[in-house]
Amino acid sequence: MLVLTFTLLTCFSIRETVSVKSNIVFVLTDDQDLMLGGQIPIVKTNKLIGDKGMLFNSMYVASPLCCPSRSSILTGKYVSSHKAYNNSIVGGCSSPEWQKTQEVDAFPVYMKKQSYTTFFAGKYLNQYGFPATGGVLHIPPGWDWWNGLVGNSRYYNYHLSVNGTKEAHGSDPDNDYLTDLIVRYYIKRR
Ligand SMILES: *[C@@H]1O[C@H](CO)[C@@H](O)[C@H](O)[C@H]1NC(C)=O
Ligand SMILES: *[C@@H]1O[C@H](CO)[C@@H](O)[C@H](O)[C@H]1NC(C)=O
Repeated sequence: MLVLTFTLLTCFSIRETVSVKSNIVFVLTDDQDLMLGGQIPIVKTNKLIGDKGMLFNSMYVASPLCCPSRSSILTGKYVSSHKAYNNSIVGGCSSPEWQKTQEVDAFPVYMKKQSYTTFFAGKYLNQYGFPATGGVLHIPPGWDWWNGLVGNSRYYNYHLSVNGTKEAHGSDPDNDYLTDLIVRYYIKRR
């Protein structure tokens, strides 16, 4: 009887995980620290997330540096293991070696293996999209929809890799502001 109960429970929980697959939205923002006052301009974000109760009182990072930290988020590894030591290519940021050894094993690859449809938009790794790191043709494995910013944090006058095609953007607030563009591309995906 015990065995039977256990089996039933197991079957039930497996069915649950297979049939009810959660959507996952991962938002990555930089520089939300007290010194830079990064929270101050994002009034709507604070209102829609913070005021609704989603407050994070503790924070843990493997490294406070941009590219090493992003590389940890992607791989789940400490800097000593994924070896992106700083924001430069020689330091392992989106370097050909990193792409060959780490990126192939990053979380989007596993999302894909679980049959998720994956969408990326915005800044990726600081050195992404330059000729020395494979250019815009390089689409990190695991992403179905890829809208990767070339280089580091720009909101105007930037290039995007849209599924591997280079897209140039200028400084028109109505058409080019990156945050709004991401929203439009996300809506268009359907
Ligand atoms: C980045 O890391 C590499 C490898 O450890 C090192 O050679 C290089 O000097 C570092 N660059 C900076 C700007 O710290
Ligand atoms: C990007 O690739 C996805 C998946 O193949 C496709 O559905 C989508 O239409 C592509 N987007 C553009 C803008 O080409």
